[in-house]
Order: sequence, then structure tokens, then C-alpha cells
Amino acid sequence: MAPSSLLLFLVSSVPAMLAAGEEDCPTVSVACGKVNITFLFAIVPDEMTETSCGLIGFQVRCRNNNPYLGYNNRLYGHQFQILDIFYNNASFLLADVHKLQGFNNSASEKCHAPTNNSSNNLGLPFSISPNNQNLIFYNCTKPLLEEERWSRGLVETTCGNMTFVRVAGRSDGSGSYGSYFLEGCSSTVVPVLARYGHANASNYKELISDGFLLTWEAPLKSGIFHSSN
Ligand SMILES: *[C@@H]1O[C@H](CO)[C@@H](O)[C@H](O)[C@H]1NC(C)=O
Ligand SMILES: *[C@@H]1O[C@H](CO)[C@@H](O)[C@H](O)[C@H]1NC(C)=O
Ligand SMILES: *[C@@H]1O[C@H](CO)[C@@H](O)[C@H](O)[C@H]1NC(C)=O
Ligand SMILES: *[C@@H]1O[C@H](CO)[C@@H](O)[C@H](O)[C@H]1NC(C)=O
Ligand SMILES: *[C@@H]1O[C@H](CO)[C@@H](O)[C@H](O)[C@H]1NC(C)=O
Ligand SMILES: *[C@@H]1O[C@H](CO)[C@@H](O)[C@H](O)[C@H]1NC(C)=O
Ligand SMILES: *[C@@H]1O[C@H](CO)[C@@H](O)[C@H](O)[C@H]1NC(C)=O
Ligand SMILES: *[C@@H]1O[C@H](CO)[C@@H](O)[C@H](O)[C@H]1NC(C)=O
Repeated sequence: MAPSSLLLFLVSSVPAMLAAGEEDCPTVSVACGKVNITFLFAIVPDEMTETSCGLIGFQVRCRNNNPYLGYNNRLYGHQFQILDIFYNNASFLLADVHKLQGFNNSASEKCHAPTNNSSNNLGLPFSISPNNQNLIFYNCTKPLLEEERWSRGLVETTCGNMTFVRVAGRSDGSGSYGSYFLEGCSSTVVPVLARYGHANASNYKELISDGFLLTWEAPLKSGIFHSSN
């Protein structure tokens, strides 16, 4: 690192990693398809596997005019498509492409319902917004009685009569879904924003592809990060 930049962050007293990263971050807004990518988000060129900008920003891959979260394929592997970013209130809309593809019977892989809670895949600095509703997917070891499905509002998925989905309402923040437990079934929680009113479990594919809302926490509130506004 050049001595001049060393001096810079000594003066601004920002941790070395952060200051070192910002040098290479684009400062202008770059469009990827319909989404404008600007700081704290930064597009990382496809051929790059390492980037210094990414140390502070949220790395984005732009592939076929679709922005994906994460520069490192090993980390997210084009799993999360960014549908929209709301810079004014530090939140963004993501679609979990992998969960959607799981339902695709025509693909080489067998149809499978989601098995990993979305919250397992996304940690700090991101938080899943309480504005979302939640779908719960069940993979059961035996078919459920019509009666039980009806009373619990369970909808069969395209993966056959052992997998079901229902709406679990908005998360209360406690992360507890104990009352949604079904004996003999594994359950997976998938948030959906359901912007157009109450979520209907029958529309689970559309709901997943319409995305869920996350908020982010800026790594540092510091003058060196912002000149605009
Ligand atoms: C993206 O930025 C361009 C240029 O600043 C602007 O014209 C356009 O409306 C923006 N698009 C969105 C979706 O905000
Ligand atoms: C941020 O603003 C957008 C658009 O104005 C809105 O759709 C979204 O729900 C807001 N995010 C939060 C966390 O309230
Ligand atoms: C499912 O697979 C078909 C053919 O491979 C593809 O055209 C379609 O986009 C896929 N759908 C999803 C949701 O991945
Ligand atoms: C249900 O779970 C079993 C055991 O983990 C798995 O083999 C099967 O593929 C799953 N079925 C669906 C439709 O997801
Ligand atoms: C869930 O996803 C996390 C993060 O990608 C991974 O480490 C974990 O093994 C997954 N768990 C299951 C049960 O697939
Ligand atoms: C569930 O699906 C299997 C295979 O498609 C079928 O043989 C079985 O009759 C179905 N069971 C019920 C209760 O619908
Ligand atoms: C997903 O969340 C549900 C409800 O909180 C829990 O019962 C289940 O064990 C979780 N599964 C994984 C793979 O974390
Ligand atoms: C949910 O959607 C299905 C299929 O479109 C419809 O038959 C059903 O009445 C809807 N349920 C509610 C509660 O709106």
C-alpha cells in the first residue's frame, strides 16, 4: 500500500481494511439491468475472484443484466438475485433463485422443496425485514389427510403429495415457528414480501420470485464514505 493512503486513513482513523478497500470502489452509479448499483453496493467484474473494493461494500455480480449478491461463487453462487435496492431506507429486495429452481421438474435435478431456512444463508450485515410474510414448506414422510391439509391451509407443491406449503404470517422477530410444527414433516421457513396484499400459499412460486426484503447495516458511519446527498 502506498504511504500516502496510509497517511489518509491514519488521519481519518478508519480501520486499515476499510480504507484500503474504498480506493477501488466505483463512485458512480452503474446500471445492471433495471437496478442501479451504487455504493455501498459495488459491481465486481466477472473475471475477478478477489477485490479490494469488496472489503467494505456489498459485492454484486452482473450476469446477463441480472445483478446477483456476492462476488464469490463459492459463497452464494448466483443464488440471490437483486430485484431492487432502496438506498433511501437501506433495504433491498432479493429473490432466492435456487429455491425456485428446486421446483423445476423439467430440470436435470429432481423436484425438491426448500430444505434450508433462508435465514441460514444470510447473516450480518443483512437482516430479513419483519415486513415480509413467511411461507413454510413441509417435506413429509407420508401424505397428509385431506382434513388436516384443509384445516391447516396446506397447499400441495408441484413436487408431489408429500410436500406442502402454507403462509405463516409475518415474523414476530422471535424466529419461533413452534406452532407450525407438523409431525413427520421437516419444515423450512422462506420469507416473501408479498407486496400485493396477503400472501396466498397457492402462489408460492410467484411469491418467491417476487422476492423478500432485507435491510442492511452500514459497516461504519463515517464522513469518508459519503460525499453525495
Ligand atoms: C438509474 O439511474 C439513471 C441515471 O442516474 C436514472 O435515469 C434511472 O431512473 C435510475 N433507475 C432506477 C430504477 O432508479
Ligand atoms: C424502503 O422503501 C421502499 C420503497 O419506497 C419500500 O418498498 C420498502 O418497504 C422500504 N423498506 C423498509 C425496510 O421499510
Ligand atoms: C425450469 O426449467 C426450464 C427448462 O429448463 C426453464 O426454461 C425455466 O426457466 C426453469 N424455471 C425456473 C423457475 O427455474
Ligand atoms: C424430502 O426429504 C427426503 C429426505 O431428506 C428427500 O430425499 C426428498 O428428496 C425430499 N423430497 C422433496 C420433494 O423435497
Ligand atoms: C444451509 O445453508 C448453509 C449456508 O449456505 C449451509 O452451510 C448449510 O449446510 C445448509 N444446510 C442444509 C441443511 O442444507
Ligand atoms: C400420492 O402420490 C402417489 C404417487 O404420485 C400416488 O400413488 C398416491 O396415490 C398419492 N396419494 C394420495 C393420498 O393422493
Ligand atoms: C428451519 O426453521 C424451523 C423453524 O424454526 C426449524 O424447525 C428447522 O429445524 C430449521 N431448519 C434448518 C435446516 O435450519
Ligand atoms: C388462493 O389462490 C387459489 C388459486 O388461485 C384460489 O383458489 C384460492 O381461493 C385463494 N385463496 C384465498 C384465501 O384467497
